[in-house]
Amino acid sequence: MKRGFIFDLDGVIVDTAKYHYLAWKNLANQLGFDFTKEQNELFKGVSRKRCLEILLEIGNREATQEEFDTWMVEKNVDYLKYIENMDASEILPDVPRVLEFLQENNIPIALGSASKNAQPILEKVGLLHYFDAIVDGNNVTKAKPDPEVFLLAAKQLNVIPENCVVFEDAVAGVQAANAAKMMSIGIGDKNVLAEAQLIFTDFTEISTNFIKSLIEK
Ligand code: BG6
Ligand code: MG
Repeated sequence: MKRGFIFDLDGVIVDTAKYHYLAWKNLANQLGFDFTKEQNELFKGVSRKRCLEILLEIGNREATQEEFDTWMVEKNVDYLKYIENMDASEILPDVPRVLEFLQENNIPIALGSASKNAQPILEKVGLLHYFDAIVDGNNVTKAKPDPEVFLLAAKQLNVIPENCVVFEDAVAGVQAANAAKMMSIGIGDKNVLAEAQLIFTDFTEISTNFIKSLIEK
């Protein structure tokens, strides 16, 4: 019987990966190299700091600590400009249907995201009220694939990890859910997310009856 549902944010609830990509690309271009959409796949589920480290490896650039810190801030300021005007139209298809069904059935819902911008995004798109717990980049010390973020979310929901379901679009996120001994549901490409217990392209493929079967089983 599944009693806690944990959602990743970027790429699961909203398609913010495209804004992260644009902000990293702008920074790369400013530093004199390009950054492709394919390379951006490596950034999914990965902390801001780790993303910058990978970006600098891609561009073969060294950075002083001061430069590193400045570029982290610059990327985020740029990203915030992209998300400033986000609204409910940017929620991924059928996410509200699933959240609504869970809430109606009194199933606790948590966010488990690497982002430090998670709460304002949920507010902007009008979904914050569904969440009983928010665990994000501000609350964890170890990044996905470490299970910390999901274990903390389960604790806040007061549900044992084995009774939790995680929705994730990133390989590192699926690995984190598996490491936490939770049911991992991949949202996206089945070849990329092969380690997930179940994989769906998006929430339109996840029927309400399926969710019902998880909570009743
Ligand atoms: C994850 C994204 O959700 O959050 C990553 O998939 C991103 O791409 C990470 O780097 C950190 O986000 P933020 O908003 O704190 O820079
Ligand atoms: Mg994600």
